[in-house]
Amino acid sequence: MNNIIIYGSIYGTTKTYAEELARETKISAIPFKTIDDISNYDTIIYLGALYAGGVLGLAKTFKKLKDIKDKKIIIATVGLADPKDKTNITNIRNSLKVQLSKEIFENAKLFHLRGGIDYGKLNFAHKTMMTLLYQKTKRMKEENMTPEDKAIIATYNKQVNFVDLNKLNDIIKEIEVEN
Ligand SMILES: Cc1cc2nc3c(=O)[nH]c(=O)nc-3n(C[C@H](O)[C@H](O)[C@H](O)COP(=O)(O)O)c2cc1C
Repeated sequence: MNNIIIYGSIYGTTKTYAEELARETKISAIPFKTIDDISNYDTIIYLGALYAGGVLGLAKTFKKLKDIKDKKIIIATVGLADPKDKTNITNIRNSLKVQLSKEIFENAKLFHLRGGIDYGKLNFAHKTMMTLLYQKTKRMKEENMTPEDKAIIATYNKQVNFVDLNKLNDIIKEIEVEN
């Protein structure tokens, strides 16, 4: 079996998950920017950070994959929004639908992990984006806020880390399932 873990990460939380998954499964983990063709792999595990609803590197990585017959595709998102909340999951999945072909979206096993944010480390563009988002969200009536909106307000300008490596266990089980 030819398996691979690919990840899209800017500030390292997704990379932490990918590297731990690699350690536990003995499957190599590489950043999405270093891979062009994924068609030779039987199992493709993609871990990507959520940025403004999109999953970093996901569309680019899967764009060239045309034939997914006999392949196992596992996609895990890493974001600030709490994946225990159903609304968050629905939003993430709606956005995944747009970034993937219908066939890949329907066949991929999806997982949602929680990352973190350290405002002290954000680059200028990201800090500006988050400030604008925070200001817009703060103007909303509380009863209209989604859990994601509340998370933006609660974590603004802070350093928070929700990385929980135990949450990789479900993904490991899925990798072990025979196709
Ligand atoms: C500009 C910006 C946009 C973000 N957009 C989202 C988002 O749409 N949904 C979400 O759950 N988290 C969002 N986040 C939080 C990141 O997904 C979170 O910090 C994640 O852990 C980053 O992964 P990385 O450390 O691997 O880059 C955003 C963070 C930044 C800085």
